[in-house]
Order: sequence, then structure tokens, then C-alpha cells
Amino acid sequence: MDKKFKRTTVTSALPYANGPVHIGHLAGVYVPADIYVRYLRLKGEEVVFIGGSDEHGVPVTIRAKKEGCTPQDVVDRYHKIIKDSFQEFGISFDVYSRTTSATHHKLASDFFRTLYDKGEFIEKESEQYYDEEAKQFLADRYIVGECPRCHAQGAYGDQCEKCGSALSPEELINPVSKLSGAKPVMRKTKHWYLPLDKHEGWLRKWILDDHKEWRTNVYGQCKSWLDNGLQPRAVSRDLDWGIPVPVEGAEGKVLYVWFDAPIGYISNTKELCDNNPDKFGNWEKWWKDPETRLVHFIGKDNIVFHCIVFPSMLKAEGSYILPDNVPSNEFLNLEGDKISTSRNWAVWLNEYLVDFPGKQDTLRYVLTANAPETKDNDFTWKDFQARNNNELVAIYGNFVNRALVLTQKYFEGKVPELKGLTDYDKATLQEFADVKEKLEQLLDNFKFRDAQKEAMNLARIGNKYLAETEPWKLSKTDMDRTSSILHIGLQIAANLAIAFEPFLPFSSEKLRKMLNMNSFDWNQLGKIDLLQTGAQLGKAELLFEKIEDEAIDAQMKRLENIKKENEANNWQPEPIEGQSTIDDFAKLDIRVGTILECQKVPKSDKLLQFKIDDGLGGRTILSGIAKSYPDPQELVGLQVLFVANFPTRKMMGLESQGMIMSAVDKDGKLVVTSVSKKVANGSRVG
Ligand code: MF3
Ligand code: ZN
Repeated sequence: MDKKFKRTTVTSALPYANGPVHIGHLAGVYVPADIYVRYLRLKGEEVVFIGGSDEHGVPVTIRAKKEGCTPQDVVDRYHKIIKDSFQEFGISFDVYSRTTSATHHKLASDFFRTLYDKGEFIEKESEQYYDEEAKQFLADRYIVGECPRCHAQGAYGDQCEKCGSALSPEELINPVSKLSGAKPVMRKTKHWYLPLDKHEGWLRKWILDDHKEWRTNVYGQCKSWLDNGLQPRAVSRDLDWGIPVPVEGAEGKVLYVWFDAPIGYISNTKELCDNNPDKFGNWEKWWKDPETRLVHFIGKDNIVFHCIVFPSMLKAEGSYILPDNVPSNEFLNLEGDKISTSRNWAVWLNEYLVDFPGKQDTLRYVLTANAPETKDNDFTWKDFQARNNNELVAIYGNFVNRALVLTQKYFEGKVPELKGLTDYDKATLQEFADVKEKLEQLLDNFKFRDAQKEAMNLARIGNKYLAETEPWKLSKTDMDRTSSILHIGLQIAANLAIAFEPFLPFSSEKLRKMLNMNSFDWNQLGKIDLLQTGAQLGKAELLFEKIEDEAIDAQMKRLENIKKENEANNWQPEPIEGQSTIDDFAKLDIRVGTILECQKVPKSDKLLQFKIDDGLGGRTILSGIAKSYPDPQELVGLQVLFVANFPTRKMMGLESQGMIMSAVDKDGKLVVTSVSKKVANGSRVG
């Protein structure tokens, strides 16, 4: 670590407690943060890892309304689900608390009050939409209407989900309140604003000059915000869910969720330190000592809040340190499509654990291997399977298993002696002598993907070493050589346990036990005396298991079904096309007839053959609707509409005299059109 720092405070974005967490969250924020913290801990550095749920904000109230419960019920439920998921995936927070805690309410409220008393806010009246029936101001998400850009219905006050445009509520055409259905009216309301424009000067220098080392995506986004000019931002809202604005005359107003949530990092640190003063000391040293390094792990939609808004709040308060780095990731897609909670297009962590129990490390591995560090990236189940089977099982697992099993077999499970080094041994050892430096170089620069590759490379070296020296063959002729080879193999395995600990903590713990390692220290990396000759090893177990096609097929099937459902839900009628005249219509002779018989055409999966009573002696019509009517008998007796003056056509060797009219439903199914009352067969439709 940089010499000027003594300790590190690591935060990871507080997820909204209005739904469970999915692989996108894990890949974007929590796995990288956890890797980093585990690495620092292994190095013996002083570090805290702060997490928690973000429990205020409009989305929580919307969910509560939808489910007919209170916002508190919603956050209680999801806080627990999220907390459990993180724990199960080994995300090693020192504290995982919540923004509804008493500690947080007080700290956030005091923080606001300090800024207020220092005159750091401006007060402004503005006009906002108000629902006279529900008697409340409407958050942007509570107003829907026609999109001014694409004219889709149901656009929200902040965004049109159809065309993706960012909107403000006044732009909506025919706005309607989602609360009561009433037409909202404009009403005056007072709010407090953080004048970001006043902070622009020091922000420019601090980011653009002093933090050129930030990731290009982060630096670039900041630069574009700064270049566009910063505006004052409202830090209060008219809402009844949140932390009341601690100012007289502010009844019915709460702190804006993005004002209180980042303060949650501080409150949660305070809660941790207050509960464990011996271990963590006073909370203030983690937030106010210039020798503390503050690092925020976030996703890209949070960049402006962590690089511009929150630092401005901290600066305005005056006694806090600013972040030293904000390693933000881009987004992870799923099978080529954007992950979406509302479309259920996600792999939920709680569900993954049901389908793949005990395979937390596999997911951690794949998410890091595909981490969206510099650009959006894609998670696919095929890649998940391939990386598990071809890398974790075939390389890392296979190597470790061979080294251990052969040691059990030939040396009663005791670390055999090193009886000399061949040139090949020396070359192999040379290959990973600098693994510690390489890993540090990458981890210190938040390059987790490459760092994990480096760890896997170490496993590759070990695997190749055993494959080429073939101790299972040598054991018949040269026990001394076998002894040396397995000694080296086991030392490499011990190195792997350490090198992989930040990435695959469960497997490292398993391996540590198998190797009976009692010291476990980052500084041992690259050395070959991690295990004592003669030391007794534990039982050899498989580190990873193969994942079969069936398991992957089941996941793909699930996604396919979700896609189909979504397509049906998103259905909209086709726009009306072209123009026709009465004369065009008059050329068609459409009649009513009763279906007398109906059967599948042999050897065709599409065609049904109909016998129709058309009032004119009867006719046969073929229609390609078999897939929509698996039981054709249900159509017999129905009066339907058919075009009667088409020329006779031949299909599958059968004649068709006309066309039965069908509607195409949103799921693509065909439904024959019928009449609402009985009419004489042969009646003309017009
Ligand atoms: N809840 C926000 C999100 O999921 C993140 C909040 S981060 C914090 O996008 F800094 F505000 F805590
Ligand atoms: Zn639109």
C-alpha cells in the first residue's frame, strides 16, 4: 500500500432492499470488493469492509404498495434475504447493517443539520406535481403518461422504458398519478439543494489533476459531468418514507435517498466500532484520519454520486477524508441481454444456491473471469460450465487431487522429502518465483480478472509439472525422485491455497485443511517451504465437481421460458398499415359457414382439413392452424368466417376452396373468427 496510508476503509454500494440480489450485483461490486479486502487482510493490513442495505427511497414504497404491506415489511424481508446471500457467497463484511437503523437515522440527520447550520445548502421553492386525491406530492416514478419522444403509453416521470429516454415529469403528455389515477396538479414546494456548482473548482482539481490513475470509465464519466457544468441538487423530497428533514417547517419532507444512503457507510462503521471497540477502535479514525485510505466499490450507475455528490457532502461537512479510489465496474449482461429485475432476466443468488448447492466458488470464479472491469460483459451458462469443467476441475482440482492422492498412496499422507532438484524442477520453480509480485501489482490496481488468471496460471504450472514428471510411473522405479516431485507438487498446492484465497475462499479453506497448513500468510507466496517435510496431511477430497449438461440445459430452459413470457407481456398490436378502399373490400366475398368436420392432414404438422356447410352445397378448406388447435374436434359445430372467392388451391395433394379467417394472438397462436349469434350459412359478411 501507498506509504502515506496506514489503513483502508473499503465500502461496497448499499443495495436497495426492494428485491433480492443477482449475479450482476455480485460481479459488479461485491466479489471485487471482497477479493480486495481478503487480499489486504492476508497481507496483515488494517482494513474494514463496510456493507449494508439501502432501505429508503421511492422503489421501496412502490413495492410496498404493490404488495399491500408497509415499506418496513419490504425492507425487513429483503434485508434478510440479501444479507444471507452475501454471507453464503463468502462476502466477508465486517458489518452489514441497514439505513433504517437508529444509529443511521441519527447520524444522517445530524450530518444534514451540520450542513444546514453551516449554510451549505440553498433553499428553493419549485412547482411539482401534486395528487389532490392522495393528498401528496408525487415522486417521478409515481407519475405515468405518454412519452413525449416515442409516444408510448405508460412512460414514467423519470424515464420511458420503451425508448429509454430520460424524462422529467413535466414533459409527460397527459400525466396521471399512479396513486389514485387522478390528474396531478402543479403545486409549490420548498426543498434544500446542495450547490454542486460551488464545488466545481476543487472537484476539477481533485479528480482531473490528482486522480488520473482512476479507471478510465470512472475518470471519463466524471470529466463529462464536470465539463457539462454542475447544477444544485435537491437533497430533500416530499415523501413519508425516509429520514425526516431535521429543520422546522419541513413536515412531510425526508432526506433524499442518495443523501442518506452514502452516510450509511459511516453509520455502519460507527455501529461496528461501537460494538467492537477493542478490535476496530474509534469509528472516526476510519473516516477522518488522513492516513486512512477510503475506497468505494460501486457499479457504473453510481459513479456521479460517489465521485461528485458524496465527496461534496463530505467536503462541506469539513472533517472527513475523501475517497482515494472508486473502482467502478461496467455492467454484466446475461446471455446477451441486459439484466433486469422487472423482466426477471437475472440469475438470483438465492435461487443459484438451490440449483448449485456448495458451488459458490464456481460462480465467484466465473464472475471474476468475466468481470466487466473495462466494458460491459456477458454471463452465459455455457461459459460457466466450460470454466468450471475445463479450468477449476481439469486444472486446479485435478492437480491438487493428484498431488494429495499420490502422497497418501506412496508416503502415508506425509509430506515427502526433497531429495535434490533437477533442471526441470528448477525451471518450474522459476516459473512462479515472482507470483507474489505479479499478483500484488494487479490487485493493488484493481485488476482482479488478470490477477485471478495469474493464480490459475500457477495451477497450470503445477498441473503441467505432474503431467510431465509422471510420478505415478516413476514410483515403480525411482522412489527418491517420486518423493522430490511430490514434495514440490505439494508446495505448489500450498501456494495455490494462499493465492486463491481472495478469489475462492471456500476452496482455499478446504485445501488449507487438506494440507494441514497452520500458517497462512500472503508473504509466503512464491516460496517452497510452506509445508514441513514429514508433516501429516489431511484427507484428500475433490475441490471441484464437474457440472453436467443437464444442469446447464435446465438453466437455459428457464431463461427461454422467461423470454417467451416477456415477449407475450410486451406485446403491442401492429400499427395500421397502408390504405384500402371500399372497392378493394368489395372484391372479397366473405361468408359464414358451419364447420361440419375437422381433422389433421396426414404428414403435415400445420394443416387442418375442414368440411364446411356454406349453404351452397358444402366445400373443403385447408387451414394452417393445426398447432393452435391440438384437438381439432373442439372446432366442430362452430360458425366461422371464410373468404369464399379465392381460386381453388392444392396443398399436400388436397384441394382447398377458400380461406378460414383467423386472428393472430400475442403469443403467435391462431384463433378462428366466429360470429356472436347464429346466422344462416352462406350469409355474406360486409
Ligand atoms: N442503492 C444504490 C443502488 O443500488 C446504491 C447506494 S450506494 C450508497 O444503486 F452510497 F448510497 F450507499
Ligand atoms: Zn419513449
